[in-house]
Amino acid sequence: MIDPLSANPEVRRDQEAVFARLAAENPGRLVLHRARSLPLLDEIGAFDAILIDGDHNWYTVIEELRAVERMARRHGIVPFIAIDDIGWPHGRRDCYFAPETIPPAFLHPHRRGCLIPGQPGISESGPFGNFSHAEHEGGPRNGVRTAVEDFLRETTLDLVCRQVPLRSGTAVLIPRDDGPSGAAIRHWLDAWQFGETQMAALWEASAEHIALINMIGPLTSEVAALRRQVAADATPRP
Ligand SMILES: C[S@@+](CC[C@H](N)C(=O)[O-])C[C@H]1O[C@@H](n2cnc3c(N)ncnc32)[C@H](O)[C@@H]1O
Repeated sequence: MIDPLSANPEVRRDQEAVFARLAAENPGRLVLHRARSLPLLDEIGAFDAILIDGDHNWYTVIEELRAVERMARRHGIVPFIAIDDIGWPHGRRDCYFAPETIPPAFLHPHRRGCLIPGQPGISESGPFGNFSHAEHEGGPRNGVRTAVEDFLRETTLDLVCRQVPLRSGTAVLIPRDDGPSGAAIRHWLDAWQFGETQMAALWEASAEHIALINMIGPLTSEVAALRRQVAADATPRP
């Protein structure tokens, strides 16, 4: 697992707790590289599978995929590649955990603010307010899905791309011809192949779903804090 962990101590504590739990559940099988994916992906050797779910912007994702291709060439392995967040909100809009790590030519004008499905700008209220996003959704070199599409146009690996429109959306890239070993995953992915109209409806529903669950979390914490406050105010003082 490669993750630099958050600079925010509260978030970092939660991330460390998740890692500690996973390490305890998988003794000896988990290593946390406390670093950014770039350039580490070029240094960690061969791997059979990778889930890309880090900094959700065009530059980082396409460079991660290019590093995976270099690994594939060096070691003669075409790994199973999954890329998370190809749907709303970051499929067509960059998000930046650390804008200073993105070369200026690839950094869109960005700021912290909230995102609403169907609104290409940034909103003052709504979900995702804790992150820095590109001010406009869409256009070239913007977002995770755009990075996957651009990579597929340039790669010389013979890959098939399948999209799973669940939650924030996942793309899976598998070798076109991986023989019987890939049959099970191919069978599962084939179940997600729908017509264009049905896919569009599923993407829309998953955007609404993600927006709602990302609003309910913070609202629930706010309501709990207000309840505590009301209870404290109502407690008679000695
Ligand atoms: C959306 S979370 C996903 C975490 C994990 N995959 C999960 O599902 O719980 C994104 C993670 O990417 C990490 N991250 C941010 N920038 C990164 C980078 N350049 N390389 C690797 N990880 C990064 C963040 O610290 C955060 O933990």
